[in-house]
Amino acid sequence: GHSSTGCHASLATSYMETSAVADLDWENLGFGLVHTDFMYIAKCGPDGNFSKGEVVPFGPIEVSPSAGVLNYGQGLFEGLKAYRKTDGSILLFRPEENATRMRDGAERMCMPAPTVEQFVDAVKQTVLANKRWVPPTGKGSLYIRPLLMGSGAVLGLAPAPEYTFMIFVSPVGNYFKEGLAPINLIIEDNFHRAAPGGTGGVKTIGNYASVLKAQRIAKEKGYSDVLYLDAVHNKYLEEVSSCNIFIVKVEERHVSVDELLEADEVFCTGTAVVVSPVGSITYQGKRVEYGNQGVGVVSQQLYTSLTSLQMGHVEDCMGWTVEL
Ligand code: COI
Repeated sequence: GHSSTGCHASLATSYMETSAVADLDWENLGFGLVHTDFMYIAKCGPDGNFSKGEVVPFGPIEVSPSAGVLNYGQGLFEGLKAYRKTDGSILLFRPEENATRMRDGAERMCMPAPTVEQFVDAVKQTVLANKRWVPPTGKGSLYIRPLLMGSGAVLGLAPAPEYTFMIFVSPVGNYFKEGLAPINLIIEDNFHRAAPGGTGGVKTIGNYASVLKAQRIAKEKGYSDVLYLDAVHNKYLEEVSSCNIFIVKVEERHVSVDELLEADEVFCTGTAVVVSPVGSITYQGKRVEYGNQGVGVVSQQLYTSLTSLQMGHVEDCMGWTVEL
């Protein structure tokens, strides 16, 4: 575990001893964990208020075998990215939206959550402490992973008496091994990611464990990921294990699998995947291809607009970026 005494001394020492620029192969970053220097940790007891929180050296934490998160899955995660601008400064993208989503999820999972201010401040502290791990502009980003978990001990099914809010970071490149080339999805109608009344609408950790099997089967068959259909009709598109899906039509509504198969262009979005063009989707043994193995026009435009904004290469008229 981390001790609060001595942390600041070791923080200062290890920061001085390590070089300013991380020694990494920036050209070949995928989406694997790279250990960085520091993580953030804050705790909350039964009063519902989080402690001030500290930046401590990155490393394992100690939790009771009886922790609510380990036994009953009382946990949430978030994900956001910090990009380096050409001038070397660092940009966050809409961090208060992640804070709000964590608060909404915490309400559903009976957990207290940090305030939006505390969340954003904790993200900033963690990124600044690890700033040498933010890739050079154009080489990727620093993926920021906030966690909120029931760390207190329980035995009967109940909300945990103590919560831990943590943030760790890792430099990342492309999520899929295809890089920016189109990915191949398979529609899985025997597995569902979410059901009415369930927790599909919040970013709880169990939503992700429950699709590992479908994802493994798909990967064994050579697909990049799985596209799930709704649990009631087994017909409307929900999402992919690791990201959202869009078909090129400007409407937000239920899209049935039949319409999907007719689309001109399909792409996935997410913090991790950014905008990933879809090259094919296989459904009930039939494969439909999109974009002649190339990146569609809309996918390319959205990818470029989003990442240019995130990297500070174009003016942010939306007020979506936060400079550190
Ligand atoms: C996201 O980017 O939205 C995620 O949740 C990514 C994670 C599954 C790696």
